[in-house]
Order: sequence, then structure tokens, then C-alpha cells
Amino acid sequence: MEKTKIGFIGCGKITQVAHVPCFLEIAKKAKITGIYDLNQKTAQKLNKDLSLKASIYSSPRDLLASGIQGVVISTPNTSHYSLTMQALKAAGIHVLVEKPMAVNLKQADMMIETARKKKLVLQVNQTLRFSPVHNKIKAMINSGKIGKIVHVRCLRAGGNTPDKEWAPGSTWFVQKKFRGGLIMDIGVHMADLLGWLVGKAKSIYSINSIMIHSNNVPDNVTAIFEFANGATGVLELSWTIPCGGGLLEIYGSKGTIRIGFSEKSKLELASKNKMYKAVKIGAEKTSQSWFVDSINGVKGNPSLGEVGRHALIYCMAIEKSGRTGKPVVPNL
Ligand SMILES: NC(=O)c1ccc[n+]([C@@H]2O[C@H](COP(=O)([O-])OP(=O)(O)OC[C@H]3O[C@@H](n4cnc5c(N)ncnc54)[C@H](O)[C@@H]3O)[C@@H](O)[C@H]2O)c1
Repeated sequence: MEKTKIGFIGCGKITQVAHVPCFLEIAKKAKITGIYDLNQKTAQKLNKDLSLKASIYSSPRDLLASGIQGVVISTPNTSHYSLTMQALKAAGIHVLVEKPMAVNLKQADMMIETARKKKLVLQVNQTLRFSPVHNKIKAMINSGKIGKIVHVRCLRAGGNTPDKEWAPGSTWFVQKKFRGGLIMDIGVHMADLLGWLVGKAKSIYSINSIMIHSNNVPDNVTAIFEFANGATGVLELSWTIPCGGGLLEIYGSKGTIRIGFSEKSKLELASKNKMYKAVKIGAEKTSQSWFVDSINGVKGNPSLGEVGRHALIYCMAIEKSGRTGKPVVPNL
């Protein structure tokens, strides 16, 4: 079979550390043929540093017309919608777009509808959905191993904002006008994870505060989830905890699952004491591999636009509750 031709729009940090390595892993079935970044030097650097030999284009239009089948969009949040629509609508190209898929529901709905009408893949890079450890947890919950879920706790914390640590100088991460901030950055992953593992949330109450950083976006978030199945949950997000922290605890009527996010790995099925902990686990299919298989119509690969839509709705509920001081019903 011919290799699927892939292009990148946005050649920043996530493209460098995740997308390129993951596509290189599946070089038997996919090839990165073209790249574009608003900053040409960033595209040139990516090509050189990772020995890509991709063509560098000077506009998204030229890249999209270059014969690629799929495009990966990894740009600041506010540009996801227009670039995705350009790829789907004008160029008829399958899209893997970074999270958050869009910055409002209208945009998300338009993207999903356009992909559906054009029969194209629209996948949102909600990466936790592809992580082996979280898939293992999901399978354990589904199999009834921990019984009925009663409560969930999730903490994800770091000591600084992404423009200082993750991608130095990328100040859009902390600017309202780019819809940066802790909620859209990390909350979008963790809220999606809770909804996926526990069930639909029927109410979210959140306290969002600016504790240390002088940007206009919250650097601390504590959100309380009430799930439709009666379970409760607490989601804690922070950019102000220097030692960092990551924890997911799921309490069920028959057992508990506990993992730390630094232990990226596998679950030890220590059922004796009904406590399931993280240890090493093998890799499963990556988001990038899933995308290529979806383009090629491999069975069992549904389009993941809806997943991104739900994640966005949860983020918007967390933001709104923080603003109003009232619980918000997520409009799923
Ligand atoms: N799935 C994940 O786990 C994960 C992790 C980190 C970041 N992300 C997401 O990926 C996206 C990019 O994040 P990043 O860490 O690479 O940021 P970054 O700032 O390192 O890179 C963004 C790149 O986009 C380029 N750019 C800006 N506007 C553009 C446009 N209109 N067209 C083309 N290029 C443009 C910039 O020049 C820059 O090189 C964000 O949406 C972020 O939320 C996802």
C-alpha cells in the first residue's frame, strides 16, 4: 500500500516532541511530506533538527494543495477552527487537530458537521484517550473490577506556566485573546478523562483563581463534578506547585484505582488489597497511528470530533462556573 502523505501546520513544541516522533514510528505506513509554520524559521529548524526532508510551504493553502491526505494542526488555540475548516472544506483533507479543538461550541459543531458532510476524518488530539494506562483503567472499570464508581480525584499540577517551561517564549499559552490558560491547556485533558472514565457530568462547580502569575488567566482551578450516575469528583489543576504533582484516584464499591501521572506506565493488578497501582505497561496505538488508519478506513476507527466537543463543553462549564460562582450544567 502507498504511504499516507501527511503535512503539518504549526511546527512548535508539540510537533517536535510528539507528532514527528510518532509519525516516524509508523514510517511504514505514513510519510511527512510537507510542513508550514507562520514562522518559516521554525519550519526550517524542524526539518533540519529532525532530518525530515519535507517540503516547506509558505502558506497553508500551498501545503494543503501539495497532495497530502492528512494534516496535523498544532497552532495556538484560536486558529484551530479556521485552519481545520480550510483543510476540510476547501481542500478535502483529513484533519488531526490539537486540543482544544476550537474555542466555542459553534465552531466545534461546524467542524464536526463539515467533516461528516465531506466524509473526512476529524480527530482531536485528546491524547489521554490513546494512553495505554488510561485504556487499561477504562477496561478495568468496564469489567466491573472496582464495582460502582463512587468518587474520583484528579490532580494535575506544575510549578510554572507553559510559556516559561514547556515552550519558552510561547506567550499565547497565557493570553486570553488566544484562549490560553490552565483550563484550555490541561483542564481539557483531565475533564475529558473524568467524563470518559466515570460518565457524563451533570453539574460542575469551579473556583478559578490567579494566585501567582500576573497574566489574566487562572493559574489554579478546583472543580467539583457531579456525575449523572451519582458519583462525585474533584479536579485540581495548578501552575503554582513547584514540586509538581499528578494523581488519579478512582474509588469504587469494590476497589480503588490509583495512579501517578509521572508513572506513565502500567497498572499493577494488586487485587489482594483492592488497590490497583501504576507500574509499566506496553505502548498501544498512538493518536497519529490511529489517524492514519482512520484515513485509510481501517475498521473500528470512529471519527473523534465528538470527544473533543465534550472536552470543550466541560472546559467552558469550568470557566463559566469560575466567572459566575455558580454550578453550571454542561450542555452536552
Ligand atoms: N495533546 C497534547 O497533549 C498537547 C500538548 C501540548 C500542546 N498541545 C496543543 O498543541 C498546540 C500547539 O502547542 P505547542 O506546544 O506546539 O505551541 P508552540 O507555541 O510551541 O507552537 C505553536 C507554533 O504554531 C505557529 N503558529 C502560530 N500561528 C500559526 C498559524 N496561524 N499558522 C501556522 N503556524 C502558526 C507558531 O509559530 C509556533 O511555531 C496548542 O493548541 C496546544 O494546546 C497539545
